[in-house]
Amino acid sequence: MERVIVNDVGPRDGLQNDPATVSPADRAGLIRDLVAAGVPAVEAVSFVSPKAVPKMAGAAEVIAALDLDAADFSALIPNRKGYELAREAGVRSVAVVLSATDTMNRKNINMDLDTTVRVCSEILEQASRDGVNGRAYVSVALGCPYEGDVPEDRIRDLTRTMFDAGATEVIVADTIGAGNPAQVKSLFSRLVPDFGADRLSAHFHDTRALALANAWQALECGIRKFDASIGGLGGCPFAPGAAGNLATEDLVSLLHQAGFDTGIDLDALLAVVDRVRELVGHPVGGRALAWLHNHRAAAAAAG
Ligand code: COA
Ligand code: ZN
Repeated sequence: MERVIVNDVGPRDGLQNDPATVSPADRAGLIRDLVAAGVPAVEAVSFVSPKAVPKMAGAAEVIAALDLDAADFSALIPNRKGYELAREAGVRSVAVVLSATDTMNRKNINMDLDTTVRVCSEILEQASRDGVNGRAYVSVALGCPYEGDVPEDRIRDLTRTMFDAGATEVIVADTIGAGNPAQVKSLFSRLVPDFGADRLSAHFHDTRALALANAWQALECGIRKFDASIGGLGGCPFAPGAAGNLATEDLVSLLHQAGFDTGIDLDALLAVVDRVRELVGHPVGGRALAWLHNHRAAAAAAG
């Protein structure tokens, strides 16, 4: 069976925007549960200003509570200070965040696009020298809440610049869930021949109920690595209109039904969804949750 890598970004993309404040100890517990369910990669934290994103405070504590050999743990970083803090915490994999429009960069990290490109490039070059795995998000790739449509050429050029600076992977992110499968097909069919499917990853939000359809289309284009968020948690505080991420359990359910291997135990993953609901104190779960629960109950009854 062909392997697809699922990177759970719930502890970062999800919890950064949740009404609940989850303590670093509980965030680490959630991450350990995801890994115990077989999730091979987790975006565990972001090293960002606690004034900008209070929910992500305590990132170093979260990292200190993890066995860094247990999975591929990464940290989102917006600037050099974030890189330094991640390094001090012992993080082995970082993701810089480059939005494809000027306005989104200003709103998100208070830098214009050109400055962000330069800062991200410098951090990626530094990471290569330090032996740190440096990844890059190209965000709002399928639509910006402030500037609307984003030309494909710009996504391709930004992707190339990030690879040239030493990125090991570029995560093409539909930050607000604005994209549709036709757009995904058009964009990835251009990126894959240029950069190789094995160096690209896709990140979708389910704002318009198209995240699964978009993921399937990206799969058809050869992509074998996806971000998703346990329970469909998520949204970006600086991107109005962004709803939750593609739910990890929906993605894993799709992949298993379609004959792909993820290494993830779906029953164990559903138990993690229950735990997330307790942690945040409100209902969570992707579109397939009711069916998944019924299916699990039926399987258990059948012994
Ligand atoms: N981690 C923690 N603190 C940081 C930091 C980081 N990566 N970068 C800057 N700071 C601190 C500075 O030390 C300074 O602290 P002080 O007020 O106590 O002196 C303060 O933040 C302001 O620093 P400055 O460099 O002027 O930052 P800014 O106000 O221009 O904000 C960011 C820029 C990038 C720090 C802020 O916009 C941010 O953290 N954004 C993250 C957005 C995010 O996570 N979005 C969701 C994911 S895409
Ligand atoms: Zn996101």
